[in-house]
Amino acid sequence: MNKLLLPVLLILCLVLGGCSAPNAPAVPEAEADLIVVGFSQVGAESDWRNANTLSMQTALSAENGYRLILDDAQQKMEKQVTAIRNFINQGVDYIVLAPTTERGWETVLSEAKAAGIPVIIVDRMIEVSDAELFTCWIGSDFRREGDTAVRWMEQHLGDTPLEIVHLQGNIGSSAQIGRTEGLDAGLDAHRSWNLVFRDSGDFTQAKGQELMEAVLAEGTPFNVIFSENDNMAYGAIDALKAAGLQPGKDVTLISFDSSRTALGLILEGEISLDVECNPLHGPRVRAVIEQLERGETPLKYTYVEETFFDADTLTEETISGRGY
Ligand code: AHR
Repeated sequence: MNKLLLPVLLILCLVLGGCSAPNAPAVPEAEADLIVVGFSQVGAESDWRNANTLSMQTALSAENGYRLILDDAQQKMEKQVTAIRNFINQGVDYIVLAPTTERGWETVLSEAKAAGIPVIIVDRMIEVSDAELFTCWIGSDFRREGDTAVRWMEQHLGDTPLEIVHLQGNIGSSAQIGRTEGLDAGLDAHRSWNLVFRDSGDFTQAKGQELMEAVLAEGTPFNVIFSENDNMAYGAIDALKAAGLQPGKDVTLISFDSSRTALGLILEGEISLDVECNPLHGPRVRAVIEQLERGETPLKYTYVEETFFDADTLTEETISGRGY
């Protein structure tokens, strides 16, 4: 075919609506009216994260009028940047980002802004110089969670000498930063509290167990474990039991998230305190998108209400009525 004729034919074809652009993925007719949301998820590192993914999938389902494109970044920020660029190329209607870490989003969010795609941040916070780079944020006050744990330690452990093992989440994430800041403030305020070990277990059960095994092998004395999430606490429990120690008796175990399994472990006396972190953001994100669709302006920052659980406050009903 004449090379000059090809572009002319292509334009004609597009104008007449008889075919789609060469690289554009065809949208099935039944999906044409759906609101398309690209969701860049941190990964599947914890029960909390899986509950969060399910909450998003349920709220942004086809029955509710959405097509959700989920991308699992396997806890890698670079993968999230690539996912966002893919969403922009696909021309999604909204981007939802659950960020791994707080920093490094300026460039890719500027690209989303230039493409006119609203970005909703969920769960952890981001640190950007221009707050106009995202539409709004919904998530937890992680510093307050850390402070809640320290207040409980003050009330229940007081000024007895504490040798604290600190299992951190993935470094640079708001969940790690806030909870660590809370503990650091407690350490500064109590001379009898000592930090004997601190390292990141990346919020996973396997790494939580690995770190505790290392602490036990070193022979470092400790009487408190401050685990920045439930899955690392489960790993720590396995390591303690394998070493013949009884969590809850030989060591005070403090955790975050309050997933159903962890609450069961409070009733069994293995976890002493669990500070709640609520993952059920799906309906909240959906409500924001609905607001935007109506031309309204959602609140820029929404902090989710959270509490804490220990043997004094927890009931069987709380566990059975739990959404995660
Ligand atoms: O950002 C929330 C944290 O991320 C949860 O505490 C943890 O379980 C998850 O992986």
